[in-house]
Amino acid sequence: MDKKYYITTPIYYPSGDPHIGHCYTTVACDSIARYKRMQGYDVMFLTGTDEHGQKIEEKAKAQGITPKAYVDEKVAVFKKLWNYMNIDYDRYIRTTDDYHVSAVQNIFKRLYDKGYIYKGEYKGKYCTPCESFWTESQLDENGCCPECHREVKEAKEEAYFFKMSPFADRIEKLLLDTDYLRPKYRAQELVNNFIKPGLEDLCVSRTSFTWGVPVTFDEKHVVYVWIDALSNYITALGYENSTYNDYAKFWPADVHMVAKDIMRFHAIIWPAMLMALEEPLPKHLAVHGWITFLNKKGEEQKMSKSLGNVVDPFMLGERYGVDAIRYHILREMALGADSAFSNEIMINRINSDLANGFGNLVSRTVAMADKYFGGTLPAEREAGEFDDSLIECVTSLRAKVDLCIDETRLKNALEEIFTAVDRANKYIDETEPWKLGKDESKKARLAAVLYNLLEAIRVISTLLSPFMPNTMPKVWQQIGASEADATYDNAGKTGVLPADVTVHKGEILFPRIDIDKEIEALNAIIEKNMADAKANLSDEEKGKEFTPPELSDEITIDDFAKVDIRIAQIKSAEKVKKSKKLLCLQLDDGFGGRQVVSGIAEWYKPEDLVGKKIMLVANLKPVKLCGVESNGMICAADNADGGATVIFPDQSLPNGAKVR
Ligand code: ME8
Ligand code: MG
Repeated sequence: MDKKYYITTPIYYPSGDPHIGHCYTTVACDSIARYKRMQGYDVMFLTGTDEHGQKIEEKAKAQGITPKAYVDEKVAVFKKLWNYMNIDYDRYIRTTDDYHVSAVQNIFKRLYDKGYIYKGEYKGKYCTPCESFWTESQLDENGCCPECHREVKEAKEEAYFFKMSPFADRIEKLLLDTDYLRPKYRAQELVNNFIKPGLEDLCVSRTSFTWGVPVTFDEKHVVYVWIDALSNYITALGYENSTYNDYAKFWPADVHMVAKDIMRFHAIIWPAMLMALEEPLPKHLAVHGWITFLNKKGEEQKMSKSLGNVVDPFMLGERYGVDAIRYHILREMALGADSAFSNEIMINRINSDLANGFGNLVSRTVAMADKYFGGTLPAEREAGEFDDSLIECVTSLRAKVDLCIDETRLKNALEEIFTAVDRANKYIDETEPWKLGKDESKKARLAAVLYNLLEAIRVISTLLSPFMPNTMPKVWQQIGASEADATYDNAGKTGVLPADVTVHKGEILFPRIDIDKEIEALNAIIEKNMADAKANLSDEEKGKEFTPPELSDEITIDDFAKVDIRIAQIKSAEKVKKSKKLLCLQLDDGFGGRQVVSGIAEWYKPEDLVGKKIMLVANLKPVKLCGVESNGMICAADNADGGATVIFPDQSLPNGAKVR
């Protein structure tokens, strides 16, 4: 068979647990692969894990296990998730697989022999205690090591480089003059940013860590990231190895799908590598955006473990069903653009499209066939108004979806299908079958209406089955369609179901979600995750996550001078009875002493404060707090935990000294 199709996801770093973002690419590729299989293509759908590198080495070390043991554990989680999400991949590559390792060694050697890889010097900032190289932008705000915050020094490391400049012209043409890159509007920015200024050579080996593919002819080097990672797309087919033999059949790939963070590597470095190897280039690179997390303030955040906002696909699947989650992520994300994830958007989408839209169409139609005809339609039919319009919509649907699939526009594919769902629901409103059912003389018309609806559902559910593979067989069962009725060929026409089709009332396909209740439950889960993540952060990391509030309106120096701030010392402290928040402090203010009540009892023990110098707002009008008199206020700053930290000035300052 010469209809063949090769599609790939990136290979994921198993350095943490997979989240809804990883699911996007994988579910998208799975849906396309399933659609292509339905069309009769011989499909190779590849996914896998990118298991080498310093980060993995360090994480394993921190847990006291070998890197291989570490990745084995994580890969099991990825595979469990793909199984759970119904991902039907044909091949799973691990970059630690022996055949891949030796193939990468061969590829590296061939590029070296051809003169495209040469030995040079990698210059960067080096942290001696951590034995790590950092780039300028990775350093912390003091220009120190981002890990241990000690000083770094300029250092050089021997490294191999891949010469990319010979391919600059061809890559520019590939990006600007062909439809390799999708969406095309990103091509110009790549050319302007990376090709026009001169394509820089790429560092492709390291000597500062060992968890990687060794360079065969210079053993202290390991292959650094991209030659190892990108090669997976061909080694998995058998390139430079004999484990597989599918290279001639499947290469070049039809689509590599990736998110924008790794677009550059797939748009520039990967073509350059293939050009250097004199191999054909993949046909398309489909680039999508990130799924971001929309927080309660309505701000989009990148999903990150340290923020605790990563959305766990297992948890969502348990609550709403895997197909609903697959549908939601594919329906929201336009090719190229970001898509904000929020619980509200997800639940509204599931309710409106799946519960009210499609689910309701199926349940109403089946219920009416059951109610008026005992489940089996009579053969006698009467055509009527609106039939042609519905049938036209249904029979033209497949071609529209085909086009979207071929252009990797899955959001648009689903929009097309749901236009037909809406059309079918509208047909029910137009034909009013509940009225026909009351009139014995309209039975033939009613039979035609229900048959047309069942046919619309058959076509729609067939075209939806690659996206929601769990649910659609249940639909076929309910509408009396056999698997043979629900084929790609039959999705292009109507009149497929038998004239005396029998429906079977079944379970509700997509239960309506109680939005208020679920939002509350999900928010509680996210808030707990965020709190846990915060508790696990170092103080330094917390500080980075802190968003300062807006600045207040401008004041003059005279305004400021009205506030009399003095140094004072805490002589004694005790809790204010009946208050969780208040401490009563006796201060030496340099003027004979005074009492101040401060709302810091949640964060400070009285005994820890005694003897400390503080900053006192000394000319505040006295007030009573919980019945206790307070003469002034001590200065504290909001901290990243949402609490307050008292400002402790230098202990050498005299009591009563003015702060200005
Ligand atoms: O970059 N939204 O691996 P990786 C959408 N190993 N997609 C997301 C996402 C999000 N929030 N987060 C991750 C690597 N992805 C390299 C790739 S390929 C030869 C080597 C998806 O684990 C998206 O497809 O960081 C992105 O490109 C991929 O995960 C990167 O995963
Ligand atoms: Mg990444």
